[in-house]
Amino acid sequence: MTLPKKITINSRSSNYFIEFKKANRRNFIDNIEIGDIIIIDKKVQSMHKLNSILPKNSIIKISANEKSKSFENLDKVIRKILFYGFKKNNKLIIIGGGISQDIGSFISSIIFRGVDWIFYPTSFLSQCDSCIGGKTSINFHEYKNQLGNFNPPKKIIIDINFLKSQSNKEIRSGVGEMAHYFLVSGNDDTNYFLKNFKRVIVGEKKISETMINKSLKIKKYFIEKDEFDRKERLLLNYGHTYGHALEALTKYHIPHGIAVAHGINIANYISYKKRFIKENYFLKIKECMDYIIDNNNPKIFDINKYLSFLKKDKKNINSNLRCILTKGPGKMFIHEIKFDENLISYLKEYFNNFLIKN
Ligand SMILES: NC(=O)c1ccc[n+]([C@@H]2O[C@H](COP(=O)([O-])OP(=O)(O)OC[C@H]3O[C@@H](n4cnc5c(N)ncnc54)[C@H](O)[C@@H]3O)[C@@H](O)[C@H]2O)c1
Ligand SMILES: [Zn+2]
Repeated sequence: MTLPKKITINSRSSNYFIEFKKANRRNFIDNIEIGDIIIIDKKVQSMHKLNSILPKNSIIKISANEKSKSFENLDKVIRKILFYGFKKNNKLIIIGGGISQDIGSFISSIIFRGVDWIFYPTSFLSQCDSCIGGKTSINFHEYKNQLGNFNPPKKIIIDINFLKSQSNKEIRSGVGEMAHYFLVSGNDDTNYFLKNFKRVIVGEKKISETMINKSLKIKKYFIEKDEFDRKERLLLNYGHTYGHALEALTKYHIPHGIAVAHGINIANYISYKKRFIKENYFLKIKECMDYIIDNNNPKIFDINKYLSFLKKDKKNINSNLRCILTKGPGKMFIHEIKFDENLISYLKEYFNNFLIKN
């Protein structure tokens, strides 16, 4: 099977596309014009010796951590952009993972009422997921992803060679994020994922590229149907409600995609307890998620704190928890659950039986 080297995403703002290409000197010269500003993850810049092949444009280096994604930190980045004499007809070029993307895409949406941006995703997670969909998210004080809008890039260039320098934990995080797409997609994609995910974790290049490509095509289906998260796209929240609360509980020591893998286990456990799926399906997926998680578990678990984070989830309705449960591969559905004794006992049971004793 030959993979498409170009994927177009239809969007209400304007269509944009992904190219699978080498991010070499030629490619940078083709995409970066005089006056454009490059916002780059400093780790990626040094690990891939990009200084020697990037054009001599103005460069803003950032550290990829959740603090850099804060509302206060945007001030510094915007000051630098203005200092360099950036104009409305120039573009921002973002090179890095999901954090660099969130910073650059948000700024590009507000500066001069919006400028174009081009994205070179360099982390596994940003290549298989966040690079499309157009969401921008900035943290506000201790609250993650509270400010944002929709602002897709004009173009995304995916160079799989960036992934060689990613840590195994970050690759696992990307694979955890990718898992939810394959499971939501249906039986065939679920089986394909279960068969091949370990090869991605050990860094096999060809299969990694194939699975990134497939993952983006699954996401494309959902975002083109429901770009603004009102209906079908909500199903992609599978694993996220319970995952986000775990990320917050561990103060973001568990990377996003690994928290999503935990979140898939928890959503499946609740689906099993509510008799939507059989125990053997819960256990089959759990074996795969646990391999991805690789003992990146919360060190301590306080059920009341965990519940308080679940209660704050921005997708909740009234006082109920709105989450995605499953009746099997491709059969995810939106479910509202009361914060009652049942939910609390399922969560306690899950954490006591499967996590805390590890
Ligand atoms: N906007 C969206 O649609 C969206 C979707 C999912 C996640 N996110 C956000 O993205 C972030 C997580 O994404 P991420 O995991 O890509 O974050 P990230 O940008 O922090 O990258 C993870 C780590 O990998 C490093 N890194 C990136 N590329 C590398 C490379 N090629 N070699 C070596 N190290 C490299 C980074 O410096 C960082 O330490 C979270 O803040 C999450 O909220 C946004
Ligand atoms: Zn995610």
